[in-house]
Amino acid sequence: MKRATHILLAVVLLTGSYCLAQGYDFMVRDAERKLMAGEFQEAIDIYMTAFKSGEFHYNDYIHTAQAAASLNDADLAFKFLGMAVNAGFMDKDRLMNFPCMKKLHTDKRWTSLLIRVDKLQKFMQNGFPKKHAENVVIDLPEPRFDSGTSVEKAIKNRRSVRQYSEAPVTLQEVAQLLWAAYGITKPMKNAPDFIRGGLRAPPSAGARYPLEVYLVARNVDGLDSGVYWYKSETHQLVQTVAEDRWEAVSEAAFFQQHFKTAAAALVWSAIFERNMAKYGERGRERYVCMDLGHSGEHVYLQSMTLEIGTCAIGAFNDLWLKRACSMTVPEEPLYIMPIGKLK
Ligand SMILES: Cc1cc2nc3c(=O)[nH]c(=O)nc-3n(C[C@H](O)[C@H](O)[C@H](O)COP(=O)(O)O)c2cc1C
Repeated sequence: MKRATHILLAVVLLTGSYCLAQGYDFMVRDAERKLMAGEFQEAIDIYMTAFKSGEFHYNDYIHTAQAAASLNDADLAFKFLGMAVNAGFMDKDRLMNFPCMKKLHTDKRWTSLLIRVDKLQKFMQNGFPKKHAENVVIDLPEPRFDSGTSVEKAIKNRRSVRQYSEAPVTLQEVAQLLWAAYGITKPMKNAPDFIRGGLRAPPSAGARYPLEVYLVARNVDGLDSGVYWYKSETHQLVQTVAEDRWEAVSEAAFFQQHFKTAAAALVWSAIFERNMAKYGERGRERYVCMDLGHSGEHVYLQSMTLEIGTCAIGAFNDLWLKRACSMTVPEEPLYIMPIGKLK
């Protein structure tokens, strides 16, 4: 009995330390290798451990379902197929062509799964606005162009901060951060259309400006909780969601600790087409995220002058974040930076 308890304890500790020592990406790569090698049960065990971290991607759910279907475990396969669709998987052709899932096609649950995929596809086509209605538009305070903190000091002291004081942030502070993220610093009247108003604070490949920036407000003085799109051209906020979406954004980012105390969050998306029209695949694979890095770093450094803490977040579910912020059809969410006064 004692020996059995010790063995159980060792297994629990080993699983726990595997989870702690190896990040999600490492574990799913390991699981994928097992799947490819036909070691289905081992693959499932590693995926299950990886999902315990709170992270997931629908492809990893699909892989787990593939392993389960290969082991003829239909219940487990359907469980993970359902989770994949919930998380945004909607590639029906791919679904129909998995050889290991052919035997599931006669199951009633397969038909309901296809119906859910259809519904999700329809939602993706019609569930997002084509463009933002500009019914509620808020003029932002002008940014200031000086501070008591030098760029060098901001670079030296910059750190990612994940816990904040409960104090609200002000509209002036939010305006300053949005301006640093994507504000226009050189207005241009007769520039080509793609410049959309002028050159902006961060550099952008070919001045294509593929990014869009949102503010998710939770505790901002003078601003109702909700979601706002930053209209750089006019330095205004356009309300896109007139209700509190904090919980939904937090859920999309797997309830990471930042959301417990942050006052607001900046969210970036990109319209990849703007870059691809000029640069093709190179624009998609490289330039959009390089642009994003410049914009995010501006927010990191600007926040240092405001005694505001922030942290880049790349781990979230794309579909959930897109829904929570009510982004327009062609946008893909890329980044979140919660903000809050330093403790
Ligand atoms: C692309 C990217 C994604 C990140 N994603 C997360 C995240 O999801 N959660 C988090 O807490 N930190 C995230 N970070 C912050 C890093 O963990 C942090 O920058 C790193 O630990 C170095 O610490 P420092 O920023 O204080 O120098 C991310 C940073 C980058 C650049």
